[in-house]
Amino acid sequence: MDLRASFLEGMSRAATFVAVATTDGEAGRFGVTVSSLTSVSADGDQPSLLFCVHHLSPVGAAILKNRAFCANLLAEDQQDLSNLFAGRGGSADHADRFTSTPWDAGEIGQPCLDGATATFECRLATALLWETHHIMVGRVVSVRLSDKPSALLYGQRAYRKAIHLAGDS
Ligand SMILES: Cc1cc2nc3c(=O)[nH]c(=O)nc-3n(C[C@H](O)[C@H](O)[C@H](O)COP(=O)(O)O)c2cc1C
Repeated sequence: MDLRASFLEGMSRAATFVAVATTDGEAGRFGVTVSSLTSVSADGDQPSLLFCVHHLSPVGAAILKNRAFCANLLAEDQQDLSNLFAGRGGSADHADRFTSTPWDAGEIGQPCLDGATATFECRLATALLWETHHIMVGRVVSVRLSDKPSALLYGQRAYRKAIHLAGDS
């Protein structure tokens, strides 16, 4: 296996949660499924997080212009939404993605998806284009928590859910 293939195989074994990064503003409304959402800090002036988006996705350019986004952490029953915003089996048109699912605007106008287990509305703090991907860092300005705390996971190229291990509290 070459280095790239073994990197991809190794990373496929790291189960991650699944989020849809959305943005709205003067550049328009866009959204994309990402597994690269990561908490950065809860202890700065405001909490912060990051995710990575491919430079060819229109979401990257839109966030750079709108200067804001919402990270919608999907609940374990939202596989269809993950597929929709990954452009799987449907239109590549981002406007269609939003007409297929209920959402509403958060405090700073960013699209919060109905049923997400948590939504993190952010102002763009900084962005770095690293080779093929933009690393987007956001300062969180509002959080919504649903009554469904279990997040959808993705690992070994399939959707999964987390279960308690015996012996754990
Ligand atoms: C579970 C899952 C996780 C993904 N994670 C990312 C990611 O972190 N970054 C990214 O750029 N694309 C990611 N993708 C791929 C994008 O969702 C997909 O390529 C995108 O919808 C392309 O459409 P666009 O170019 O119109 O945005 C992921 C897809 C899936 C199904």
